[in-house]
Amino acid sequence: MAKHAITLNVNGQAMDVAVDSRELLIHTLRDRLRLTGAHIGCETSHCGACTVDIDGASVKSCTLLAVQCQGAEIHTVEGLATADGLHAVQQAFTQEHGLQCGFCTPGMLMRTYRFLQENPDPTDDEIRHGMAGNLCRCTGYQNIINAVRVAGEKLRQGEAEPAE
Ligand code: FES
Ligand code: FES
Repeated sequence: MAKHAITLNVNGQAMDVAVDSRELLIHTLRDRLRLTGAHIGCETSHCGACTVDIDGASVKSCTLLAVQCQGAEIHTVEGLATADGLHAVQQAFTQEHGLQCGFCTPGMLMRTYRFLQENPDPTDDEIRHGMAGNLCRCTGYQNIINAVRVAGEKLRQGEAEPAE
């Protein structure tokens, strides 16, 4: 199968990788770059467990070919924390008990990271709509809604700036 040499900018680092024509970005991230935080929960683009941030948008990485991402700026959950500690969205999910098994969490965090830049002071309704592309089988969502609200408060107070 034909290989394509591409460069992905992942969490601020340029990474050269040879990918198959039909390779999905989620497999490149997990299997070639060993960034196994992003997960796979379906084959129909519904669950959002594979969500990463690409060029300023939340993207389901199971629904994109790696070759389409040549030169893209990609942020994954592994890049959220800094030397100063956890990002505000990670702190808030921890404080508000917004996770149980943790399988949906990397996708939830990456969606929250972008959603709060799209809408820094959302209502609970707006949070529910904004997070509708991410499914969770454990939490019943309420603590996730709380976590997104609290993360927004933290960011507005400047406790942790989004790592852009
Ligand atoms: S793995 Fe379910 S939407 Fe990507
Ligand atoms: S915490 Fe288990 S699927 Fe969301």
